[in-house]
Amino acid sequence: MILVVSSSLNPRSRSRLLAQAACERIEKMGRVLKFLDLHSHCLPLCDGASAYGEPAAAQATQWVTEASAVFLASPVYNYDVNAAAKNLVELTGRAWTGKVVGMMLAAGGQGSYMSAMGLANSLMLDFRCLVIPRFVYTTGEAFSDQDAIDPTVLVRIDQLVEETLRIADAVR
Ligand SMILES: Cc1cc2nc3c(=O)[nH]c(=O)nc-3n(C[C@H](O)[C@H](O)[C@H](O)COP(=O)(O)O)c2cc1C
Repeated sequence: MILVVSSSLNPRSRSRLLAQAACERIEKMGRVLKFLDLHSHCLPLCDGASAYGEPAAAQATQWVTEASAVFLASPVYNYDVNAAAKNLVELTGRAWTGKVVGMMLAAGGQGSYMSAMGLANSLMLDFRCLVIPRFVYTTGEAFSDQDAIDPTVLVRIDQLVEETLRIADAVR
């Protein structure tokens, strides 16, 4: 199973559009997919204690555990992924062990292009994840007023999906 996570809590999120585009491509490849949208799947804040047992957290942990690859689409907040993405990793922790991870980011400007590195480092060093060195980084220019994604970005999402799944299949 392939898991796609959208971590934005904004109902008009652009990174969710990236996640949805990745879902379309994964489905076209005939792969089993789950979409975890943190806007609708409300997780408790990680407290290192009872939050792990809450049903929404347990469900997320199960999905991460079952996934052979995880795609994370996140907003850039304060030169990092958003707190909801970090909270998901805090809650699901060791379920990430050895996962192949692809990242997609929506940012306000060009300058924050290394914002995924904090979470990428944590996933690599804490959980030995293989983070694919091909991030899809976008700014507002990648989206039309009607929320259509620029074709060049769609090509990059295709490349990320193909490369992530190729490596996930190889290490399985
Ligand atoms: C609290 C906050 C912090 C932000 N920090 C950054 C930042 O450090 N760098 C940047 O390029 N954009 C920043 N932005 C702009 C967002 O990345 C941008 O609006 C993006 O589209 C959000 O993703 P979303 O549409 O999927 O929610 C910030 C926005 C908010 C609300």
